[in-house]
Amino acid sequence: MFKFNFDVEDGTEQSTDVNHTAPNNEPHSVQAAVPEPFTELSLADALNSLPSKISYSSITIPLTSGGELSLPRRDLFDARFQLISQNADDPDALEQPSINERSALHFLDAPSDLVPLVYEGGLKTWECSLDLASYLDGISSRFDVSGKRVLEIGCGTSIPSLYILHRIFSAPPSQNQTHIHLQDYNASVLELVTIPNIILTWYLSEAAETFRKSEERADSPMELNISEKLKDAFNESLMTYGVNLRFFSGSWDTFDLQKSCGSYNLVLTSETIYRMESLPSLTAIMRSACNAEGPKGVDDYLCLVAAKVLYFGVGGGAAEFVQCVRDLDRGGTVETVWEKTQGVERRVMSVRWN
Ligand SMILES: C[S@@+](CC[C@H](N)C(=O)[O-])C[C@H]1O[C@@H](n2cnc3c(N)ncnc32)[C@H](O)[C@@H]1O
Repeated sequence: MFKFNFDVEDGTEQSTDVNHTAPNNEPHSVQAAVPEPFTELSLADALNSLPSKISYSSITIPLTSGGELSLPRRDLFDARFQLISQNADDPDALEQPSINERSALHFLDAPSDLVPLVYEGGLKTWECSLDLASYLDGISSRFDVSGKRVLEIGCGTSIPSLYILHRIFSAPPSQNQTHIHLQDYNASVLELVTIPNIILTWYLSEAAETFRKSEERADSPMELNISEKLKDAFNESLMTYGVNLRFFSGSWDTFDLQKSCGSYNLVLTSETIYRMESLPSLTAIMRSACNAEGPKGVDDYLCLVAAKVLYFGVGGGAAEFVQCVRDLDRGGTVETVWEKTQGVERRVMSVRWN
């Protein structure tokens, strides 16, 4: 198990200390023998498994266009409470929680503890995801996401996609169909944080204004009642705004582009280039997701990677990523389009495939 403490907690940057500890064999940090397979999660099932109330905090994104944007994130203690309550309803589960539940419970307590092929850090918000959202804001006047196909790889709390959804839900409804697909290694991350964060982003947007006025508020301003009425209003907004959401879990080398209906116009990923062993499968999925084989107009696709320049003790980083893109069959080139050179160096990189 290793930790790189570059995550973001309640909107403030945390310590930049780096720990690299050996994998441990505690019963709750189960080592998976095989990578998780590609699996699609049903949005309806995820909505139905949510408790009647969720709590959240907000995270602030500095906008390139000036000012700041607050996006909501489900509280991890609330996700933990959901898992424990689900088990409490099922005496067998309480006695013998499944490996996935045990892992999820452990990692909700220690979301920075990454264990290869078990849990890859998606429960926390990592700071480069904010850089990517800010960068998307800066290019929003020249890259219109409406009507496009978007894939966020290794989404976790999905801040870049939340930014995109915030924009869509703040603009007048469009006739265009926009497809936003989110991938994470862990299905539990998608269920416990990604999907709730999307619902919260919708709920606080202009698209939900009528619904907000009509519904009974939760007791606390940072809580949301997940009623049948809310689920219906959310689904209706998705239709009105032409937003098609899909969720995929599993390891990158199992990602099935045919099942996700082909290539994308915008491929996003943040804080995913930290492990050398995963770089070949990450770059391969990025390349195929951008339809590098197709006609390549400049506006055909945009492929953006936000990352630290160095991930101490783990092996990955910007230089290793650039090399891996070059070495890939028919490869590509990487351009740094944004960087922070003070303190822990961070970049947003744009990839063009050959
Ligand atoms: C450190 S987290 C970053 C999460 C989020 N992008 C952020 O910046 O806050 C790394 C993400 O990459 C995904 N990931 C890492 N290795 C993976 C692999 N081999 N296959 C599939 N997903 C992987 C995990 O699901 C996890 O969400």
